[in-house]
Amino acid sequence: MKALVLSGGIGTRLRPLTFTTAKQLIPVANKPILSYVLDHVSAAGITDVAVITAPETGKEVKNYVKNGSAWKVKVTYIPQEPLGLAHAVKTAREFLAEDDFVMYLGDNLIGKGINDLIRRFETEKLDTMILLKEVEDPTRFGVAVLDDEDNVKKLIEKPKEPPSNLALVGVYIFSNKIHQAIDRIKPSWRGELEITDAIQEMVNLDFRVRAEKLDTWWLDTGKKDDILVANAKILDSYVKRQINGKTIDSRVEGRVTIKKNAEITNSTIRGPSIIGKHCIIKNSFIGPYTSVGDEAKIIDSSVEYCVILENALITGVDRLEESLIGRKAKVSKNHKKRVLKLNVGDYSEVEI
Ligand code: G1P
Repeated sequence: MKALVLSGGIGTRLRPLTFTTAKQLIPVANKPILSYVLDHVSAAGITDVAVITAPETGKEVKNYVKNGSAWKVKVTYIPQEPLGLAHAVKTAREFLAEDDFVMYLGDNLIGKGINDLIRRFETEKLDTMILLKEVEDPTRFGVAVLDDEDNVKKLIEKPKEPPSNLALVGVYIFSNKIHQAIDRIKPSWRGELEITDAIQEMVNLDFRVRAEKLDTWWLDTGKKDDILVANAKILDSYVKRQINGKTIDSRVEGRVTIKKNAEITNSTIRGPSIIGKHCIIKNSFIGPYTSVGDEAKIIDSSVEYCVILENALITGVDRLEESLIGRKAKVSKNHKKRVLKLNVGDYSEVEI
């Protein structure tokens, strides 16, 4: 079994962060989303991994993943123009050869690994295994219709009138039959070769296509709020109480990780939360559900349910909630004058 990890796309809905970062590298609980994906691939015993990259962000993704040794996998990079998920499979044809493979979208986070899914694909001798999750707004996703035995009957990409509420999660397992199916499909209305159409073609060709309903959480981290929810889920699932930084006249409540050389003075940190290396927190309240990136400074402020990236500075802000603050961004309160002074980047959102 090989793995194809997709790390292309330009992340328009996550601007301005994605002007400077690949969306798969946005940190959740201080670790890039892509890192959780590679953790799952590696834990499934897969060592041969291709990472599909986009022209804009390929270099940055390579710089982070390197040769994959941090995850005990061997990585091959395959550049691709953003012409659809099935087009990515086509581009990786040589790497995939005739092997079975997992395709994992690098911006998807799921609450458990993929070992059971792979085992089922193998024991049931399937040609396609998809994961589905009930969602409130199926029009944003690929949507599936199943028969009583979870065989896939029909699939539609981003339907205006969804035939079910079962969305396709960004984890798929394929046999080499997928290549014939891809050869038979045409680009969709959005100009992309859709994997959803290719799987429909597998159904039409009577290949064995089955689905499993995911019994844990799933997040497709396309927007700011998705990142905040993902952050809360990951903090809930993984963060441990581990205090390596220095705390002075401060309270640390519950599951809080404080990394080395962070300094917390006269403050309260409430878990689940994580404070990165070399952070300075002074006269502040942090958490719950907050991740503070390395070297960020939070002074005289209260921050809850937020993702604060590296080197950000927050001073004198009474209540910062449900916010995503980029690297080296500065947020401060002007106590003297009742005016707002903003220097906001392209595509930023400010709610006052
Ligand atoms: C892609 C797939 C869609 C799937 C989604 C999951 O959508 O085409 O079927 O439900 O990923 O993240 P896209 O991210 O290309 O809009």
